[in-house]
Amino acid sequence: ATPGDLTLQILHALDKEDPILSAQAFPAATFTDVKAALDRLASREMIKYDTLDREEAILEPEGEQIAANGSHEARVFEALRQAVEGLSVQELEKTIGDKNVAKLGQSKAFKEKWISRTKEGKFKTATDSIKDVTQEQVQTIKTTRTHPDPKVITELKKRKLIKMQKVISFKIHKGPKFALEIAKEETDLTADMIASGAWKTATFKPYNFNALGADQNAGALHPLNKVRHEFRQIFFEMGFEEMPTSQYVESGFWNFDTLFVPQQHPARDLQDTFYISDPKVAGKPGPTSPDDTRDYNEVWENVRQVHENGKFGSVGYRYPWSAEESLRLVLRTHTTSVSAAMLHKLAGLRDRDGRVPSARYFSIDRVFRNETVDATHLAEFHQVEGVIADYGLTLGGLMEFMEIFFGKMGLTDLSFKPAYNPYTEPSMEIFAFHKGLNKLVEIGNSGMFRPEFLESVGLPSDLRVYGWGLSLERPTMIKYAISNIRELLGHKVDLNFIEKNPAVRLDKD
Ligand code: PHE
Repeated sequence: ATPGDLTLQILHALDKEDPILSAQAFPAATFTDVKAALDRLASREMIKYDTLDREEAILEPEGEQIAANGSHEARVFEALRQAVEGLSVQELEKTIGDKNVAKLGQSKAFKEKWISRTKEGKFKTATDSIKDVTQEQVQTIKTTRTHPDPKVITELKKRKLIKMQKVISFKIHKGPKFALEIAKEETDLTADMIASGAWKTATFKPYNFNALGADQNAGALHPLNKVRHEFRQIFFEMGFEEMPTSQYVESGFWNFDTLFVPQQHPARDLQDTFYISDPKVAGKPGPTSPDDTRDYNEVWENVRQVHENGKFGSVGYRYPWSAEESLRLVLRTHTTSVSAAMLHKLAGLRDRDGRVPSARYFSIDRVFRNETVDATHLAEFHQVEGVIADYGLTLGGLMEFMEIFFGKMGLTDLSFKPAYNPYTEPSMEIFAFHKGLNKLVEIGNSGMFRPEFLESVGLPSDLRVYGWGLSLERPTMIKYAISNIRELLGHKVDLNFIEKNPAVRLDKD
């Protein structure tokens, strides 16, 4: 029976008799079908049911055989009853057709004194009639699945004629809304139903709070956005201000020259940097808004001099610095260009004591490099950048800060390796041990900005500035176990992956 039929069968059975037992009323129906039908009716309060959990005795194959043909000893007796002369062992086996039954049966029949031996050694009956108790017992069990005498059950179990089986059945009662038909259930209250008054008599389908919601097919955050969100939280929690990074095109001046990157530096090659072809050059740096009162001539001149002849205690690079090269427009190669402009702006601020105030800035945005695209490199990626400007900062302080900062992402046991950046001295690459990859991975680059840069943009000589940067893609790829960066960014991204990926927690790795 389909579950649909079964619901009606249950209602009709209950109409005649209340309560009913499922095992008796529907012996052929499967447990799942009965349960589904009962739940359907119970959710409408048409019935109520209790679950009964009991043990049933069922026949083993040998028990089935005895129920059908009689016990072994009874079959031996029967065979001999028909043979007036008695039967030899071989004849008995042949008549019964089963060596085993003949053997077990004759020894049992002897014990019961149903048979005896003739002088010739043949078997013969020793009584006129017998009562096959075993057969009766297994037949009772076959029909009732139990026996009134528990000792019989124990005995038959020992003889391996029956076994016990746990069964769940149901005791079913009428419910408050019992009826012989299942009313159509409305799933929505409609305007029509209100207008016609049909809502007064309609039956509404109850809410199923266990149902899983339907897929919403809504927008989803990109994994990079999720990791970016986590980084921003860390920065805000540590008192950082976000830098404005909406401008992708920068002059060489802010991207390279202020940062003391010499004009012959390989990073400024066409192979490494994207140059803008139209327009090719920027105007000389100048105020960005009417209230911008900073002296741009001074920073321009400082940068020229520090490169050409040296300044602020530096001997400089001693090469003829080209203003034209400095004004070439580039797609920013790092967000340190934004930090440079922000620190120049900071140099114009004063606190209550007339000093340049300390500051903490960060940004997370896109940068561009003329790279050969492969599994781990793209021509554009995102950089996480931070700077801290304060008095009395030391290299040890930078290392400690890095430990706190990366510790908030669950990265501990950092290692530092001396490195080189034209704009920081000392510079350090930062490594962390990655448990998943079981090796040290580079997670960032950092350093203390050089006076050639800091004093050029007008900061006081006793102010120290930490800076560091890392890509947003690397931790994201590690978090989401992505090995090819093109699965994360660009035209090959699988939208399904974006929709289904879980929220990120930087501290759980
Ligand atoms: N600009 C560096 C990079 O692109 C990161 C960095 C920022 C290093 C600030 C030192 C100071 O890798």
